[in-house]
Order: sequence, then C-alpha cells, then structure tokens
Amino acid sequence: MQDKIKSFPEGFLWGGATAANQVEGAWDVEGKGPDLADAMVAGSHSEPRKITLNIDESKYFYPSHRGVDHYHHYKEDIALFAEMGFKVYRLSICWSRIFPKGTETEPNEAGLKFYDGIFAELKKYNIEPLVTIYHNEMPLSLVTEINGWADRKCIDYYLRFAKAIFERYKGVVKYWIPFNEINDLTTGVGNWNHGGLLNPGTVDFSHQVDDPDKRYAALHNQFVASAKAVLMGREIDPSFRFGTMICHITVYPLTCHPDDVLLTQQEDQLRNRFSGDVQVKGEYPYYMQRYFERNNIHFTVEDGDLDVIKKGCVDFYTFSYYMTNCITTQKDVAQVSGNIMGGAKNPYLKATEWDWQIDPVGLRYTLNHIYDRYHVPIMITENGIGARDIFEDGKIHDSYRIEYLRRHIEQMRLAIDDGVDLVGYTPWTAIDVVSVSTGEMGKRYGFVYVDCDDKGQGDLKRYRKDSFYWYQKVISSNGGDLE
Ligand code: BG6
Repeated sequence: MQDKIKSFPEGFLWGGATAANQVEGAWDVEGKGPDLADAMVAGSHSEPRKITLNIDESKYFYPSHRGVDHYHHYKEDIALFAEMGFKVYRLSICWSRIFPKGTETEPNEAGLKFYDGIFAELKKYNIEPLVTIYHNEMPLSLVTEINGWADRKCIDYYLRFAKAIFERYKGVVKYWIPFNEINDLTTGVGNWNHGGLLNPGTVDFSHQVDDPDKRYAALHNQFVASAKAVLMGREIDPSFRFGTMICHITVYPLTCHPDDVLLTQQEDQLRNRFSGDVQVKGEYPYYMQRYFERNNIHFTVEDGDLDVIKKGCVDFYTFSYYMTNCITTQKDVAQVSGNIMGGAKNPYLKATEWDWQIDPVGLRYTLNHIYDRYHVPIMITENGIGARDIFEDGKIHDSYRIEYLRRHIEQMRLAIDDGVDLVGYTPWTAIDVVSVSTGEMGKRYGFVYVDCDDKGQGDLKRYRKDSFYWYQKVISSNGGDLE
C-alpha cells in the first residue's frame, strides 16, 4: 500500500484547525461578551455538559473561559504551526468578541485588533487563513433575548458581523465557511450549539427538549444567512471563496436486508445530504419536502428566501470526518456513540475510548460519494482522534494519532487517484483544545500538547508531540512520506 502513495497535487493545502471558543480563552477581556460556549460547564463521557444561562464561576467550571489561552499565546502557537509547515490554518472568529451582545451597530475595535494580530502572524509565515464565521460562538444575549437562530432577527445580526469582518479582512482572508457543521440542526444536538432552543439548566446532550418546528426554522434561517453572506461577500471582494461545512457521519446498512438499506439511504439524505444540497445546489431537495410533510414539521419560509438560497451557493465543499456508523431496523443491537449521532456498532471496526468508530476506508468512500454528487473542490476541515496523551518528561509518544492520521491520509491519496478534487486537509486539531462534547482537556486531538487539565490546572506550556514531527515530514514531502 505504502509504495503506491506518491506525493499529493502541487499546492495541496496542508494545515490544521481550531475554533475560537475551544482555544482562545480570555472570555471576558477587552470588551468581549459571553457567548454560548462560555455558558457550558465541564462534563465527561459519562456526564453530559449543561448550559447555565447565568454564568456562575463560584459554582461551576467553564472550560472555555480559559481554553488553552491562545489569546495570549497566539504568536507562539502560530510559530509552531509554521514550524510544522502549515500552508493553511482554519480558525473561527468569535462573534461575541466583535459584537459583544450581537445587537450593537458598531464592532468592538479591540476584538478586530486581536484578529488583525493573528492574520499578521499567519501572513508572516505565508499561511493561508480559512475562517469559520460561526462555530458555536453566538453572543449569549441573543440566546437569552431572542432564542437564538429560531428567530429571524438573528439573520440580520449575523450579517452585520459578517460585513464587519469581510470589510476588515478583505485582501487578507480569501476562504470563508459561513457555518461550522450546519447540518447539526438535523439532530437534537443542534439545539444547543446553534442557539438557545433548550431550557437552560436542563440542557444536555441527550437533548430531552426538542421542538423540530423551531429547529428547522433555525436551520432555514442559517441557510438564508449563509446565502446572504455569500452574496454580500462577493460584492465586497469578488475573490472571496465560500464553503459549506458538514458534519459527515457516513452511514452503512448493518445488513443487506432491503429495510436496512432503505433506512440508511433516508438517514444519509437527512443528516449528510440535505444541508450540502441546499448550500451547494441552491435548493431544498425533494426528499425533505416529504420528510417535513410526513413528520408534520412547519416553519416559515418568507418570500424571496428560496431565491436568495438559489443565488448564494457556496464554491467548495468541506466536511468533518471522524467515524462511520451503521443503520438498522433491528432492535437491541450493540450501539456506538458519535459526534452528532451514534448508530449500530460495525463489527469490522475498532473504536476510540469515547466510542467513535475508526474507519479510514470510509473516508475514501465518502470523498467519492461527495464528489460524485457535487463536482466542486473538497477540503477535509476536521479529522483526528481524541485520545488521552501521556506526558513523559516533556515528550508525548502519540503513535496512535500518527497511525490514525496516516491511514486516513493514505485513503485521501487513493481518493485523489480515483479522480476526486481534494484540495486541502486541516486535521482537528492544530493544538490541544477543550473538547466540545465533554468539555474535557483530557480528550486531546492536537499536534501540540498544552499543559492544562480537565479542571483548568497547568502552566499552559506548549510541547511538541511525536505527531508534530511526523506531520512536519508529511507536509514537507507533500504527503509522499507517511512513515
Ligand atoms: C466537531 C466540532 O463536531 O467535532 C469541533 O466542529 C469538535 O468543534 C470536534 O471539537 C470533536 O468533537 P469533541 O466533542 O471530541 O471535541
């Protein structure tokens, strides 16, 4: 297998990813308002995180308040990314750092200055920024005041934010992702990270309160916001390029029973295809019209919305890929968990400690599936393994991470050989960050280790893991040397 892996296409964008709420910390400095992630208390694999709309640090620990303090370490961190040879760095701009409550008419200059600094550092090392506009960093007051994305007013507040950063960073940022994992709202999990649709205090990942009417209204509002942002962005700078970002949980039928195959197709349409179809093809697909009717789901589509969605299509497709799951009509089969949804256990796959199944071949399958459907350039904007790294005398021997990434990169190369137009790869994560699902630091993904534990203790010193040196070699050989 290894012999067949030649180098990747010239100009391939190797890099890494983070998100502001998981990495920056500095949650209340220089005018930043609290955001949704700042209200999430720490949890674990067995104890779901909760949202407390009244933030009370004397009672709870909120991991995003410190993150890994990238806010004060960004120069050091970007120097490490450059040392690895990054060509691209995916980051998000924290909405509540720029518009603390979301409703202001003028942006917070101190927040913009912080990102000026980040982009200047990236430029110094010739690293292309790839910016996620919304990655769970909704100003908390939009959650408490207007119930988040379920309210159409959110579209205008978001566009004000988008306009401010488009105007400030035109000529600096070319690649934009309007929403991280926009398809989260096809599951109950989307209720929390897309804004305030659950009762505070009772909120957790088992999403016991769910109102599909509001959830799909929120998703529709995001589709409209995305399309309007694309149209506005192109006016501001015609060289801007926009991408969708789908949490792609590829699904296989557990058996070849036609009922399993049909159910798998339906799950795939709903979770993986629907949002990409809207953002790339510019229209609600036929199967969703039926889905809404059969499930008695109603939300408002205003005059002009569908036209805007049609005109504001994105230019490229990006997705996160961590696992695949199986689907079956059978009851009582072994289950595994997952990112936005779990599924039936695949007997041929191993899983991580957090029960996410590892499936490199599934990545080649997925890349072919996506390219066949959309025929636009593709980037994998998240992929990686959450693991408990062991720190030994300043060293972290993360051979499991190297193995995970190597096997996925091999499959990327094979997909390119198949003819897929894969243009970039930003594994999760460039540096250790707080885990979204559990709020732990112990579930680590980075190439760079940060001395910080689940309780926020540690001196935040950065250390290069074995995977850091390995990835450096992968990038310098343009994917030719994966050993
Ligand atoms: C993706 C998110 O869903 O999964 C990231 O975009 C997140 O923000 C990543 O960190 C991994 O999930 P977790 O729960 O292990 O942090």
